[in-house]
Amino acid sequence: MNRPRLAVVVPALFLLVPMALRAAPSSPSALSGAGLAAHVCSACHGPHGNSLTSSFPKLAGQGQAYLLMALHEFKEGKRKNAIMQAMVAGLTSAEMKAVAAYFSAQKMSRGFAQKRDVALGRRIYEGGLPKQHVPACMACHGASGRGNEPAAYPRLAGQWSAYVYRQLVAFAHNRRPSPHGIMNYIAKRLTPAQMKAVASYVEGLR
Ligand code: HEC
Ligand code: HEC
Repeated sequence: MNRPRLAVVVPALFLLVPMALRAAPSSPSALSGAGLAAHVCSACHGPHGNSLTSSFPKLAGQGQAYLLMALHEFKEGKRKNAIMQAMVAGLTSAEMKAVAAYFSAQKMSRGFAQKRDVALGRRIYEGGLPKQHVPACMACHGASGRGNEPAAYPRLAGQWSAYVYRQLVAFAHNRRPSPHGIMNYIAKRLTPAQMKAVASYVEGLR
């Protein structure tokens, strides 16, 4: 991640938060998933869940069970992010379910891998790094990176590589939890260069 760009994006985020919060529905009049997405989430996650910059993850086409799990993790404070924790604070369980269903039914836009990262990225994704005790990502995230809906393993294909990299760093430093610590175990065993390569590779998957 490069710092100058972050310095521009972060203050802009804090301007967006109160705007989006004001737009949030006052329960109990529940908004539909599509309504919430359009009026609240799209400010950051883009039209139909395809965010326009890597500051925000794409939600379009992400697994429904995973999206719902993520929203609950923010709500319970297990996954920490000031913006998203504020976003879900006012949402009911029914609204979280509806908005997760809405985004999972959209189509994720294409991403692109850096050519120089493909060879190493693919090797890690498909075969892991046995000497470093890193399992193949494919085993859980799927042969083409589309995730595993019943198990709530997220889709990685098409996701912004800069976001993927940031999450790997967060897992490595225990700033983000994962079931049975699986992603923390894996991310701790990757070097930053290996994280960058695999992040770039998965963005290019379709
Ligand atoms: C003001 C900007 C902003 C708004 C508005 C916003 N989000 Fe987010 N969202 C973020 C950021 C930033 C992250 C990345 C958090 C992190 O790094 O863990 C995120 C992450 C997420 C994730 C996790 C995605 C993943 O791949 O793990 C979900 C799910 C999500 N948001 C859903 C929503 C929903 C649903 C709404 C509307 C009710 C919404 N967001 C509104 C900024 C926003
Ligand atoms: C044993 C199963 C398993 C393996 C192997 C695995 N993952 Fe994961 N991964 C998960 C689970 C489960 C989550 C959801 C964690 C959570 O949010 O609680 C996840 C989440 C992620 C996320 C966050 C996605 C998002 O939208 O925020 C990234 C990035 C990721 N994994 C990358 C990788 C990479 C790269 C590899 C290979 C080096 C890998 N994973 C191997 C199970 C696995």
